[in-house]
Amino acid sequence: MNKNISKSQEKTQNTRDVFNSKIGFTLACIGSAVGLGNIWLFPYRVGKSGGSAFLILYVVFLLLLGFSGVIGEMAFGRAMRTGPLGAFKKALEMRGMKNGEFLGMIPLIGCLLIAIGYSVVVGWVIKYLIGSITGSVLNENPCLYFQKITGDFSSIPWHLIALASTFAIMVLGISNGIEKLNKIVMPLFFLLFAFLAVLMFFTPNSYKGYEYLFYPEWSSLLNFKTWIDALGQAFFSLSLAGSGTIIYGSYLSDKEDVVSCAKSVTIFSFVSAILSAAVVIPAVFSFSLENELQSGPPLMFITMPTIFKSLPMGNYISIIFFASVWFAAVTSLVNLFEAPIEMLQTKFNFSRGLSVCIIAFISTVVGVFIENAEIVGIWMDTLSDYIVPLGALLAGIMFFWVCGKEFAREKVQLGRKKKLGKWFEIMTRYVFIILVFIVYIVNIIIKV
Ligand code: PFF
Repeated sequence: MNKNISKSQEKTQNTRDVFNSKIGFTLACIGSAVGLGNIWLFPYRVGKSGGSAFLILYVVFLLLLGFSGVIGEMAFGRAMRTGPLGAFKKALEMRGMKNGEFLGMIPLIGCLLIAIGYSVVVGWVIKYLIGSITGSVLNENPCLYFQKITGDFSSIPWHLIALASTFAIMVLGISNGIEKLNKIVMPLFFLLFAFLAVLMFFTPNSYKGYEYLFYPEWSSLLNFKTWIDALGQAFFSLSLAGSGTIIYGSYLSDKEDVVSCAKSVTIFSFVSAILSAAVVIPAVFSFSLENELQSGPPLMFITMPTIFKSLPMGNYISIIFFASVWFAAVTSLVNLFEAPIEMLQTKFNFSRGLSVCIIAFISTVVGVFIENAEIVGIWMDTLSDYIVPLGALLAGIMFFWVCGKEFAREKVQLGRKKKLGKWFEIMTRYVFIILVFIVYIVNIIIKV
């Protein structure tokens, strides 16, 4: 059976677009990981869940998932040379079982739905970027400005720009579109956000923000919700959903070491979350807006413009801020859309262009109905709480258990000089799967 898989791999590898370099692949995975989850959700979740206690748990979970789930999804995609639908199918076929495609639909559709919600928010980011350039963001009342574009059907033009710009890149394919995009905008994102973090350091009383972020308040660890939130955040920000990382892995050469790629993704995901917290939290404390930290989504769209208004050269800072957020978001969005597009290409033999058009059509038609801030908030929370971990859990079970111990080890070992240690099975088959399973079930029980 393994031989058959290798043969079909060789065939598809010759005709499939691939990442041209390890750095291109790693940057694309970092681009996928670093997104609205790190910039938009992380600062307010830190604010809501007890500051540094949340941060500590988040780091622990990042490391844990980075060295288990992320490695697994990259290697799983590469071994099967396709996205979740085909990968789950092939995995179950190795055991003579059917219905893999049906299970693969869960992460695939889940990612498409996340992408649809995500595009709405990217539309707002574009509106804020253009508004920062024209000056409207800083001249108008921040609350009213936000309300105006987040009501029912209120951001259609921006939403369409978000979708059109994303699909224009995607139609170019992996090496010419996604890889090039990430190589340009990801380094820019880190540079600009580091610059903003330094600027915010010089705002008055910024130290209170660092204190909040780094001074541990251990009592929050007693709250189980803090654990759930930190784990959910780690999943989302590592793009561990049984789809995005699998599909990128499917375009990775057998010569590369997935463990080292996963290490870079984990590190940079952490760095970006800290950077965005270092931009947002000290500024919020400087302007005594700390109560707004818990306001959730409006933090980025209402509180930050309020702060920019009071800073010298605030309009430039606002432009840099929203441009960087857009860079981070679009590189995640292309990843979210890639799995459904690849599925249409592989399963139905559609051309790349036609597949992109079909997904563009579905996303636009569904997306305009969820443009409202409240609806999109519920949409994203539900998907990230239930579908993201479920997709990751299914992918983990498929690769580490269904494909089997030897297969998983062999596929992760490809392209790696150093032999994988015993930690591999312990981390992947046991710690990862059992932890995710328990937390997932407990989360559902608590909420019901
Ligand atoms: N990691 C992205 C973020 O933090 O915004 C979101 C994401 C991208 C989740 C791709 C899942 C995925 F497959």
